[in-house]
Amino acid sequence: MASHASNKLDGKVAIITGGASGIGEETARRLAYHGAYVVIADIQDEKGHNLAASIGSHRCTYIHCDVTDEQQVKSLVESTLQLNGHLDILFSNAGMMNNAKQDILGFDIPAFESLFAVNVRGTAACVKHGARAMVAGGIKGSIICTTSLMASIGNENRVDYVMSKHAVLGLVRSASRQLGAYGIRVNCVSPGAVATPLLRGVLGVSEEESERMFESSSSLKGVLKAKHVADAVVFLASEEAEFINGHNLAVDGGWAGMG
Ligand SMILES: NC(=O)c1ccc[n+]([C@@H]2O[C@H](COP(=O)([O-])OP(=O)(O)OC[C@H]3O[C@@H](n4cnc5c(N)ncnc54)[C@H](O)[C@@H]3O)[C@@H](O)[C@H]2O)c1
Repeated sequence: MASHASNKLDGKVAIITGGASGIGEETARRLAYHGAYVVIADIQDEKGHNLAASIGSHRCTYIHCDVTDEQQVKSLVESTLQLNGHLDILFSNAGMMNNAKQDILGFDIPAFESLFAVNVRGTAACVKHGARAMVAGGIKGSIICTTSLMASIGNENRVDYVMSKHAVLGLVRSASRQLGAYGIRVNCVSPGAVATPLLRGVLGVSEEESERMFESSSSLKGVLKAKHVADAVVFLASEEAEFINGHNLAVDGGWAGMG
């Protein structure tokens, strides 16, 4: 990939939570490729620093941020404003899945609470502080959250994860109504199965095995990759999506539509 071949997002400043790995990592590369300055936020410091260095210090930096701690989220946004003066794009993407089966009869409540602290409370804190910075700066920005196919359907296992993604969808739909008045758009990307460390860790399989397991899930031939999700984020972040608000964009090769 060329280092900077598009100016679609020139002059824009973006924060990506969960930006050190998987979908966030690929999106950091794609946003920078399209001209944005990217702040990678994560708890995996070594991976985050290495990724920022590989993208280039003139276009990317890494800031440690545990999204379960609202103060850290607030200071992530403040540091971004100090470094760059404004915030245009927030990709709230940090998320986790429990290793436990989490069916309802064996539901582990403390594990559910830990997951909600990341996937739901963390996302709410990011949307809150990102939106406050945009409103205060008069920025007609774009906020994108990562939901999942699991935001739209039920499942007999991973009930906590399913609940968390339904909650993020509710947050996005509600925030989009309030923030639309400021010209701020709030949308989600809803990936199918991508063979990232999160999914591979839960399934205990290799990247190839994970891709094989889900290959027949889509109506399209081929394998869903993080880059497909990243391209959808770039679209929602750009002016090409200037009248799209409160939308949950499925990037799943047609899985959700297969019934
Ligand atoms: N991989 C899939 O199949 C899939 C499908 C649908 C949705 N998603 C969602 O995509 C998002 C990204 O996941 P991924 O698949 O790229 O997995 P990943 O594990 O590669 O990336 C998740 C990142 O979030 C970070 N993170 C976790 N807890 C954090 C915290 N408290 N504070 C800050 N960062 C934290 C991790 O360190 C990691 O870098 C998640 O929200 C996930 O639920 C993934």
